[in-house]
Amino acid sequence: MRIPEEVILDIKYKNPIEDVISPYVALKRSGSKNLKGLCPFHSERTPSFTVYPESNSYYCFGCGAGGDAVTFIKNIENLDYIEALKFLANRAGVTIPENRYDDSIIKLKQRLYEVNKETAKFYYENLFKPSGKWVLDYFKSRGLKTETITHFGLGAALGEWDSLIKHLKSLGFKIDEMLQAGVIAKSSKGTYYDRFRNRSMFPIMDLQKHVIGFSGRCKPGEEKNGGKYVNTNDTLIYKKSHNLFGMNFAKGNCKDGIVLVEGNMDVISLHQAGITNAVAALGTSFTEEQARLIARYTDLITLVMDSDEAGIKATNRAIGILSALGIKTKVVNVPSGKDPDEFIKLNGGDAFKKLIENASGDTDYMLFKLSKDYNLEIAAEKISFLNKAAEYLSGLNDSLAIDYYAGMLSDKYGIQKSTLLLKINEYKGKNKNKAKKEAIRNIINPKINRAYVNPYKNRNNRICNSEELILNILMKHPEVIDYNGLDENVFISEIAKRIYLSIKKLYSKNTMFDIALIESEYTNEEIGYITGIFVNNSNNVQNFKELIKDAVDALKEESLNLNDKDINNMDNSDWERYMQNIIDKKVNKDG
Ligand code: CTP
Ligand code: MN
Repeated sequence: MRIPEEVILDIKYKNPIEDVISPYVALKRSGSKNLKGLCPFHSERTPSFTVYPESNSYYCFGCGAGGDAVTFIKNIENLDYIEALKFLANRAGVTIPENRYDDSIIKLKQRLYEVNKETAKFYYENLFKPSGKWVLDYFKSRGLKTETITHFGLGAALGEWDSLIKHLKSLGFKIDEMLQAGVIAKSSKGTYYDRFRNRSMFPIMDLQKHVIGFSGRCKPGEEKNGGKYVNTNDTLIYKKSHNLFGMNFAKGNCKDGIVLVEGNMDVISLHQAGITNAVAALGTSFTEEQARLIARYTDLITLVMDSDEAGIKATNRAIGILSALGIKTKVVNVPSGKDPDEFIKLNGGDAFKKLIENASGDTDYMLFKLSKDYNLEIAAEKISFLNKAAEYLSGLNDSLAIDYYAGMLSDKYGIQKSTLLLKINEYKGKNKNKAKKEAIRNIINPKINRAYVNPYKNRNNRICNSEELILNILMKHPEVIDYNGLDENVFISEIAKRIYLSIKKLYSKNTMFDIALIESEYTNEEIGYITGIFVNNSNNVQNFKELIKDAVDALKEESLNLNDKDINNMDNSDWERYMQNIIDKKVNKDG
């Protein structure tokens, strides 16, 4: 049930890496062999995303993303391994022998896209039937032009319980396909019914503009009866937390950043008013996956959030998630607590563009928000506020910004700037310890830093370097696999051991090492790590003996200590001791 290796390699080598990547990333020559561009997987200003035509791979020195054409397509198009291979096969005109692997999931997904597409069409056409006219009138009453309705593919779900089921049946879709697409549901009695009824419908699209789900709004006036919005639950092709409403349109218009609003209607109004970089989180609180999606396209987000308590909380949350990914945030408070949609209706799109232009940076916003917690008329509270503000500013990395805000607070609250700066520095000292702990936590948690697929690197980087060198040489010199004294026990970190065994397996079948052949056994982050090893050029078969000896010695030394697996089983006190140990080692090293 697998695609044969020769087909995989054929697909891969008919898709030169630079051709695959160049539609997504502007690449420039770097040196005689390689190309460089801005990494599409994290946000950066100077290119660290490197493409190696010679080895058909890419690696980002900024975030550790890496792999081959298959990995790239998997990540950029959000596909799984088989789908990415199909995508590339298509691109290069290679036919995959269909009966050689189980492609039932792909076929099902294809059907679910079809169900969604036909459903969207059906809803759209309903707008022009007498029974769906109220929705068209409703959209018009909200100021939407016909082009806008068509552009977003809006529609009407009618009142009957089964009009969609009947329609889809007539097109040859099976009940199970409708169920799996989430457009119908099953009652407790076992009967099926249209999931959306009497609603104005907003199709949700992925980046390739497939319809993948729907958001349905109730009739105006019926909001109180529960369920103002009904949204598609997660399906095989739709993950609420991974998508943003409007991103399919916004992705091409985000030179000036992305504008994040709360509602679908806001997105639509903004687009109609010419603000075509607006998106909304689909009724979820903003997620890290959504932030990553945005980070592929821009490093600036303007958050337009409600100024009620829930809105402020959501804003803070989003700022946290976004800044962790290196995305800058600005915040807009729409005057008199209006929706962007309502604001535009009253004041026009240009007025909204002004709001965006004049949006304050997140520091202004945070200071403003902080000030709201205190009664600044009272000296003691003012002092507490300034203390808090100093603490907050001590966390900024930009000394210019710190100076600027210290000056601003000094003017505004009548306190010496130098005193404030002193306080900020005091907090900076305290932060250092905190930062160290945080750094360690990040290392242990690969979700935050994908480069740390190998947690062992933090404990003994020298050994990991020698492991990586051994693997690098092995990847390029199959004969080395028979080297006396080299076996999996030489490797200390789990991941190195696994990579060694993968290479060995390939060589035992007389196959050259190729990332494409082990791709499906590793996570994307691990593939990045493997590619990082692979593209390293400092391979020197001469000192091989020494490297192995290094690794074996270290193994002996380490076997006395904890090994990586134990980290997962540590209780809190073990964990604290372990962390302290790491911190001490670092402090000693850093002086
Ligand atoms: N939402 C939801 N489920 C609800 C309420 C809201 O999924 N029960 C999501 C929708 O995506 C909605 C967004 O949260 O667009 C914002 O909610 P709200 O402000 O109530 O709706 P609006 O978009 O402002 O809708 P309208 O202007 O039509 O009232
Ligand atoms: Mn609204």
